[in-house]
Amino acid sequence: MTSSEGLPYYHRMQISRPGDALGTMQEVWEYYRADVQAVDIQIQKHVDSDVPLINQVALYILTSGGKRIRPLLLMIAARLGGYDDAAHHAVTLASAVEYIHAATLLHDDVLDEAALRRGKDPAHALWGNRATILVGDYLYTKAVCLAVQLGSIEVDSILAHACRIMAEGEALQLLHCGDLGLTDEAYLKIVECKTAALLSAACRLGGVLSGASWEEKEALGRFGRYLGIAYQVADDTLDYVADQGRLGKALGKDLSEGKITLPLLHLLRTAAAPDRQLVQTVIREGQASPAQLREILDLMQAYGSIVYAMDIARQHITIAQQNLDGFDPSPHRQALVAVAEYVVSRDH
Ligand code: IPE
Ligand code: IPE
Ligand code: MG
Ligand code: MG
Repeated sequence: MTSSEGLPYYHRMQISRPGDALGTMQEVWEYYRADVQAVDIQIQKHVDSDVPLINQVALYILTSGGKRIRPLLLMIAARLGGYDDAAHHAVTLASAVEYIHAATLLHDDVLDEAALRRGKDPAHALWGNRATILVGDYLYTKAVCLAVQLGSIEVDSILAHACRIMAEGEALQLLHCGDLGLTDEAYLKIVECKTAALLSAACRLGGVLSGASWEEKEALGRFGRYLGIAYQVADDTLDYVADQGRLGKALGKDLSEGKITLPLLHLLRTAAAPDRQLVQTVIREGQASPAQLREILDLMQAYGSIVYAMDIARQHITIAQQNLDGFDPSPHRQALVAVAEYVVSRDH
């Protein structure tokens, strides 16, 4: 599809000139605004437990300003394959995917003892670890309840597989906490599991809903996987260099948590012995003072660790985009290319 003809009316209304390039993330958000709004409505509608605490905590995390990247990717991937609005399954599945994401964040913030999420108190700071973990479980299972309504074994198995891989990724990360011998390969494996699995599933599910061929579903899955790896590598780099106000998370938290990420691995590999010593001391002590964090950040800049990590993220984005080559040119393909670019240019 090379023009906006055949798109739902609200899409045609939003595009002043059919066939306009979707070059920036802002343009992508505008183009799919109606889709994402429909997902937002579903996300809130299905928080309907008889247990008030569950609704309170679930709505807190679900409406606290997430970027909705996963639902967006699912909707674009579905539209890429000519998904028909008449079946609103994509919106249901996109909200299920966001439930899974929210569940992982609730659990992740407990595990990481995070102090900030999206610029606010994390749920566990307000309701405690126990309630937060239970609501995470609720959101996981609620996502399953939504997905099974579609009656598709393929959909169910993609989601179940992603959830299993994500849990393995978080466990693998726990196993390597403070492990200064971690290799780049092992780090990338963790990232692929804990983050890329869900982004890959979101893209693949869009393909499934639009009746894409096996090859197209494979390509969408690979696109999401490589984009997902880049997404986490960028997140791990932003952890050191972002503006904390924009990021909405505490800077340098990975270091204090003993989380060995790509910029740090590069620094450990390239730094002179006394500089490496500082990193080792901080990781061993399990906390970094503001002065130590500043020093490590300066070392990362001096040794090129930030540039290195973002280069690796960009390489993954290039591979992600190559997986779109087999699809006909369309606004939706352009949108996926633009989202991929955004992943390595975002500031939060
Ligand atoms: C945060 O994901 C966790 C990572 C995988 C890096 P997002 O950056 O997509 O979080 P929100 O939903 O937009 O806050
Ligand atoms: C991503 O890891 C978390 C999940 C994929 C569940 P991080 O621990 O780096 O995410 P943030 O930085 O807390 O958002
Ligand atoms: Mg975390
Ligand atoms: Mg992080």
